[in-house]
Amino acid sequence: MKIAIASDHGGFELKEALKKHYAALDLLDLGTYSTDSVDYPDYAHKMAHTILSGQADLGILVCGTGIGISIAANRHKGIRAALLYSDEAAKMAKAHNNANIIVFGGRTMAFDDVIKRIDIFMQTAYEGGRHQQRLDKIEETE
Ligand code: RB5
Repeated sequence: MKIAIASDHGGFELKEALKKHYAALDLLDLGTYSTDSVDYPDYAHKMAHTILSGQADLGILVCGTGIGISIAANRHKGIRAALLYSDEAAKMAKAHNNANIIVFGGRTMAFDDVIKRIDIFMQTAYEGGRHQQRLDKIEETE
């Protein structure tokens, strides 16, 4: 599974820490590449295109709170970006929502919590069934 990662300046530190922690996975880093101020929608859009074009199977996005970058990513049809604000949310984001982007807050979440939530998400299976019908309805909205 190819995993891409991106952040704005508010998520840069966490992105770099995650790259180091998951060095064996060779994450595809879409930027940003420094703490210079940037606009989070640019990275959300870049990630959405990367997932939708099949260059990566899963995306990890980070901004200060995880909120702005989630809002921007979810503007793209076919993107299901989930802010993993708790361990339970991490489980449900996969089991029920089959998220293709998981999102974290670099200024609001502790590194150990983020690692734990990524592990939970990865170890959980999508349940399909009635949940697929709901995911299909998300795509019908526009
Ligand atoms: C950038 O200062 C900050 O607004 C951004 O990282 C994020 O928290 C937006 O939701």
